[in-house]
Amino acid sequence: MHSILVLHGPNLNLLGQREPGIYGSLTLDEINRRLAVLGQELGVEVRTLQSNHEGALIDALHEARHWAAGVVFNPAGYTHTSVALRDAIAAIGLPVIEVHLSNVHAREEFRQRSLVSGVCAGTISGLGVRSYLLGLRALAEMVSENQAKI
Ligand code: DQA
Repeated sequence: MHSILVLHGPNLNLLGQREPGIYGSLTLDEINRRLAVLGQELGVEVRTLQSNHEGALIDALHEARHWAAGVVFNPAGYTHTSVALRDAIAAIGLPVIEVHLSNVHAREEFRQRSLVSGVCAGTISGLGVRSYLLGLRALAEMVSENQAKI
């Protein structure tokens, strides 16, 4: 069975309370629960982690090399600022799907630049929790297709 890391960046621990008009009313626990249910349906193990700290997110990406087949990642605010996270994604050699709850392209100009998109397999933005669920679905398909090629 493949294992997939779903990584949540800064301030996403406050989902449910944080700007619900933009990010919706679901808590992070509820999002993780839905990901676990979908993981069971797809036959993949889903492990989730949230951190507000750039270095902890980088460590989680490095560690994922040893156990994960791919990563669904919402880098949150670091999307727009972090060369170090981009470098970590490029370094680990795993497929990473970038996801955002809100439609970053319809928001402030500074959110329209992603430093990580160029090293991710794809980006899904603006669909709320469905951004994560579609990301997980796509990644599960990608990793099972890669295995079929071996
Ligand atoms: C976000 C969008 C980012 O611009 C923002 O900084 C976040 C959340 C999203 O999921 O919509 O914290 O990644």
